[in-house]
Amino acid sequence: MVYANVEDNPFTPSFGEVPLVMAGRGQLLSEFDRAFSSQARRPSLTSLISGARGTGKTALLTLVEERAQERGWIAVDLVSLPGMLEDALEQTRSRAAHLLKGADDVRLTSLGVGPLSVGVSHSNQGRGNWRTQLTGLLDELAKHGVGLLITVDEITPGLDELIQLVSTYQLFVREGRKVALLMAGLPHSTSMLLRDQSVSFLRRAQQVRLGRIPDFEIEKALRDTFAHSCKSVSEEILAEAVQVIEGLPFMMQLVGFRMWEEGTGGGLIDDDTAREGIRLAKEEMKSRVLLASYQDLSPMDRRFLYAMTEDPVDSSVPDVARRMGKSNSYATQYKNRLLEQGVIGLCGNGRVRFELPVMREFLAETDEGQGWSQS
Ligand SMILES: Nc1ncnc2c1ncn2[C@@H]1O[C@H](COP(=O)(O)OP(=O)(O)O)[C@@H](O)[C@H]1O
Ligand SMILES: [Mg+2]
Repeated sequence: MVYANVEDNPFTPSFGEVPLVMAGRGQLLSEFDRAFSSQARRPSLTSLISGARGTGKTALLTLVEERAQERGWIAVDLVSLPGMLEDALEQTRSRAAHLLKGADDVRLTSLGVGPLSVGVSHSNQGRGNWRTQLTGLLDELAKHGVGLLITVDEITPGLDELIQLVSTYQLFVREGRKVALLMAGLPHSTSMLLRDQSVSFLRRAQQVRLGRIPDFEIEKALRDTFAHSCKSVSEEILAEAVQVIEGLPFMMQLVGFRMWEEGTGGGLIDDDTAREGIRLAKEEMKSRVLLASYQDLSPMDRRFLYAMTEDPVDSSVPDVARRMGKSNSYATQYKNRLLEQGVIGLCGNGRVRFELPVMREFLAETDEGQGWSQS
């Protein structure tokens, strides 16, 4: 892990960056560590990670990849786009180059004096299809006892190449090869992929739903991140920040970042200044995340959310249905849609709550929200 200079803001309110302190993922990371160290095959080597935007999917993939590499695996990271299969080959060849030297598929193209004049080309390019080529590379890695981890971020379930990758991977597993596949995506993308008959074996994969991180973990991570810098906040502010963050990693970074920026000089940031930081973070959450999520929703999805705002904490579907003037089964369809979009989450007894922080405040400020509260 890279430690920030104490003079720098230690928070990372952007997408895809591994945070300085990872909140609430200790157990998950230890399980992955065990899987990548173990001789026997463990189920988590095939995992499907789902979560809303900002729950830390990309950061988790990156970190697991780093840790697998520390344990001797070769890792390739793909984004689910056309050309991903070719990319998998290219990346494997380049990251495993030190192991493939002298192997059949690499030959010297020119010899001269000194290492710089030795050209190397891959003679197997264009020989055999994608699967044969990858099989050849896996054979080489196996000679060194090295495994291949493939990560796919932002999965798009309709992509043929993704289905082809998953099906081929299944064959590799069946052949007893040392391979791992971690995929991440939004909840509706992962559930669509799981419904695809041609990759039904994925239903037995480890499914990780990145939901809300418990408050005590967020509090600890905030405190620990501040500890890597020259500034701090009071315990009272820490508690207020945790209330606003509501367990979302991206929001933790945003709130921490804004509080830190507001403070001038080093040492303790005074409470009013820190509160201004929290306020700015909430506004940024609305404009950077909530507005986009809201614009993706249908009018009936939104009605469901407005109906939820009448409850102080969580809501039951029959109550929501009544407020919408619809049947329970009608409202349930919308509940399921919103769950798959990661906008709401389940909290036991079939009750639902907002999954994204500041959502309630955001809804109250929209025109429709003001209309809803008057009706
Ligand atoms: N467990 C975590 N604890 C604290 N911050 C995190 C955690 N996971 C991710 N982050 C931070 O949250 C932000 C969003 O993470 P990212 O991985 O891009 O989310 P996603 O891919 O799910 O949209 C990044 O700034 C990242 O540094
Ligand atoms: Mg991401």
